Amino acid sequence: MNCTVCPSSGADRHRAQGIATRLGLPFAKRLTEVTTSVVLVIDVERSWLQRVSEPVLGPVTVDFTSSAMLHRRRAGHNEPIGRAVGVRADRCPTVFDATAGLGRDAFVLADLGCRITLCEQMTPVAHLLEEAVSLAKMSTLQKVQMAAGRMTVTCADSTTSDASGYDVIYLDPMFPERSKTAAVKKDLATLQALRSDSEQDIDATALLAWAKEQSVPRIVVKRPVKATVVGSARPSHSIIGKTIRYDVFIQ
Ligand SMILES: C[S@@+](CC[C@H](N)C(=O)[O-])C[C@H]1O[C@@H](n2cnc3c(N)ncnc32)[C@H](O)[C@@H]1O
Repeated sequence: MNCTVCPSSGADRHRAQGIATRLGLPFAKRLTEVTTSVVLVIDVERSWLQRVSEPVLGPVTVDFTSSAMLHRRRAGHNEPIGRAVGVRADRCPTVFDATAGLGRDAFVLADLGCRITLCEQMTPVAHLLEEAVSLAKMSTLQKVQMAAGRMTVTCADSTTSDASGYDVIYLDPMFPERSKTAAVKKDLATLQALRSDSEQDIDATALLAWAKEQSVPRIVVKRPVKATVVGSARPSHSIIGKTIRYDVFIQ
């Protein structure tokens, strides 16, 4: 993993050291000693990822109480994703999010009422998710607290996990496309810097092949609207938005 754990100040050093040991990552006392592209910075209350190699990028954190997340809920962006996983007034499916990332899609689904397991293979990202779920459980906003109560974080390679028994497997793999029109945003660019290109390229097909082996009735794959379908089989149907498409495989 292309990541070092670093305290934000001397006061956070012992905690940062403990987190580095737990996550199996190298530790550095200060940013000037770091040789990896990305740093997991540990502060008193929050942690964040920061890309420190060129192009240096701003901090990336997970905060389910942020105004951006609250806006995403209120603006109704959740409707297509809810339809894709099969949320209805009388039914909230259980979801195994096999590519949890920064947990945004998972939070939207949890907010819609789904119980959801967030499986993330990169230890520093899983750390951000665990921290964000714990903080959201203490939120003064009851809806946020309740959504966090439906979320469980696990750090593993999903393709070695057993997702049988869930209603849905949700996949949002890294897109290797890097065209000018598909400018990779800061958060995604930081996640991509944690792993090598060759590791990223195998994600989508390997994940879908694994998902199809699970005893799960529905698989949802999130794609850029114009991207090719993952794998060789046609989806049962697709929910198409302005920039995003959800390919639904019923099995
Ligand atoms: C594009 S991001 C997902 C973003 C997420 N849907 C969100 O709303 O924030 C893809 C994530 O999937 C993770 N991932 C890819 N393959 C995985 C696997 N086999 N097991 C667990 N996580 C995986 C990557 O590490 C990365 O963090």
